[in-house]
Amino acid sequence: MAFAKWLEHTRSAVALSTSDWAYPFVQWTHFSGLSLWLGTNLAVDFRLLGIGRKRQSIGELSSALIIWNWIGFAIALSGGFMLFASSATHYIPNPAFDLKVGILIPLALILHIVIQANARAWTASPNPPAIARLAGLLELLLWLSVVTAAVSIPNFETH
Ligand code: HEM
Repeated sequence: MAFAKWLEHTRSAVALSTSDWAYPFVQWTHFSGLSLWLGTNLAVDFRLLGIGRKRQSIGELSSALIIWNWIGFAIALSGGFMLFASSATHYIPNPAFDLKVGILIPLALILHIVIQANARAWTASPNPPAIARLAGLLELLLWLSVVTAAVSIPNFETH
């Protein structure tokens, strides 16, 4: 809470929360980053599930998208951090925010990194092995849970 209080009163956080245009702009960067991040994640997860065209192997698809994937994450993370900073003491006690950032995102990120690390190995067989399909389905469900927790944040606001 002490860190949240300090963060909320930094010059950039105050400028963000008091400006008419800056907050929606940062919201837009969060969503644009997320479109890249989630879009490229979904492409690989669907491929793991055997859905879609199979012109590229899982490894090739994952490698082709990896740059855009992590650029999207970096944009989403910076946007999300700025949104958080603008009202940090208000987000810390929010259970939907805590679930999203403290549990669901770390879990989904770990699984995402495991999938990226194994994508090439799973390419060896023409059809994804059962473990790869399970990982794809689980990652899909985890990011869906992150989005559900995120859109529930306003429902748990106390002030
Ligand atoms: C990378 C995975 C992430 C996903 C999929 C995600 C998803 C979303 C979505 C869908 C919203 C819109 C909620 C709404 O307006 O209804 C949102 C808002 C928000 N996100 Fe994220 N986010 C992610 C990462 C982060 C991170 C890492 C942070 C903080 C460091 C963060 C902080 C926020 C904040 C503060 C809001 C505004 C919540 C509100 O007041 O309604 N997000 N996020």
